[in-house]
Amino acid sequence: MPVLELRICGDPALRRRAQPVARVDAETRALIRDLFETMDAQQGVGLAAPQVGRPVRVIVVDLSSMGLTGSRRAFVNPSLSEPSGRWTVREGCLSVPGVEADVSRPRRVRLHALDEAGRPVDIAAEGWLARALQHEIDHLDGVLFVDRIGPLRRALLKPKLERLMRRAQRGRA
Ligand code: NI
Repeated sequence: MPVLELRICGDPALRRRAQPVARVDAETRALIRDLFETMDAQQGVGLAAPQVGRPVRVIVVDLSSMGLTGSRRAFVNPSLSEPSGRWTVREGCLSVPGVEADVSRPRRVRLHALDEAGRPVDIAAEGWLARALQHEIDHLDGVLFVDRIGPLRRALLKPKLERLMRRAQRGRA
């Protein structure tokens, strides 16, 4: 069960739309184990498969460090419905190291997905869990949290993001 290489902002793998998983099988579960291990190594609270260069719709979250017991879960082919409320709070991302910014998103969402056994799950989420799910599902659509911040804040972060992107490009060369 290896810790996988984390893709950093500027890597095209983070900008592709991930494909649905046709069947939840042993390969899917191996990927889920590696995602958890990679997330834990970075002390993250969520990780999406495109962040390790795998273009499939699989995410993991673990908010137990924030007091949310039972939140260590993997979701396959996740989708959201019934967004409500609004909450602005600071986000960061393992793929955008050293950058944090306030992001406004719905406070509550409903999650539809498959679990690691291929069983359908349907969860009403709010607060940090709803936030983590939205952030990770964005990754499956090639969207980063810095795409969702205000123009002023983005202008301020631009030099930092450009440095990250240059570093990511050098890393691939
Ligand atoms: Ni992220």
